[in-house]
Amino acid sequence: MKKVTIPSLQAMKAAGQRITMLTCYDATFARLVDDAGVDMVLVGDSLGMVIQGQSNTLPVTVEDIIYHCRAVSRGIRRAHVVGDMPFMSYQVNADDALRAAGRILRDGNAESVKLEGGEELAETVRRMTRAGIPVMGHVGLTPQSVHAMGGFVVQGRDEESARRIWHDARALQEAGAYGLVLEGIPQALAAAISERLAIPTIGIGAGPGCDGQVLVLYDLLGLNADFKPKFVKRYAEGHATVKDAVGRYIAEVKAGTFPDEAHSFQSKKPVVLPPERQDARLLMDLDADGTPLYGAPV
Ligand code: KIV
Repeated sequence: MKKVTIPSLQAMKAAGQRITMLTCYDATFARLVDDAGVDMVLVGDSLGMVIQGQSNTLPVTVEDIIYHCRAVSRGIRRAHVVGDMPFMSYQVNADDALRAAGRILRDGNAESVKLEGGEELAETVRRMTRAGIPVMGHVGLTPQSVHAMGGFVVQGRDEESARRIWHDARALQEAGAYGLVLEGIPQALAAAISERLAIPTIGIGAGPGCDGQVLVLYDLLGLNADFKPKFVKRYAEGHATVKDAVGRYIAEVKAGTFPDEAHSFQSKKPVVLPPERQDARLLMDLDADGTPLYGAPV
């Protein structure tokens, strides 16, 4: 088992091997997706919606990302761990960005960070990469700009916006980004960008022409019955599986059939409890002045 590193991701692109990435937010799923062989895990700020139940990613903090990165990194042996940079942790200035990214690597155990935006962040990305922080870019539909975009809307459909996305992608590569997420753009545009860039592109809602693909794990598992956008393919109907399991648990507990003998412990010797009178006195003493007597004999 060889650890996935930035150089090995570059080598995969050069060799034409597709890269797989999934979001992940906890150690249990991290172990599972790592064992399944995924190349990269992203502790995405999508955790704001998936884990915290928010309506967008904006409320997520650096502390949230660090907390989940630590949990995820404990479950990972092979995959490369990327920590997402939350809204306003890198947009104000490069100093903020360096500090936040440094913490995500140092305290969260992530191996690289991802940020949303284009040419306007080139200098910041340059400084971060010079400081030894590997940076992944993210262009196209950038969820932290949900209000500016007027919703989660596909980008790059007209020529001007397509050229802008290409321009941003190239600027990030030139600034030192090691890879790029392409989200919510037409497949032809994503394929053209992927072909022109030397660094790997990872697509989500960007068609098959990218160097790799990423999905939100909970979407792939179909855990949310009500969420099924066009770009998501469900590889399981997790909501039905979980509801069925929980429903059977409830039914068995109500019926008294769980726990059964097989799921219960036995005493080494027959249990002898104190006589009932002492128990009653103990309860009375507790009731009287609220001071626990913890079994003092009467
Ligand atoms: O936060 C996230 O999950 C992401 C992916 C959708 C790329 O940024």
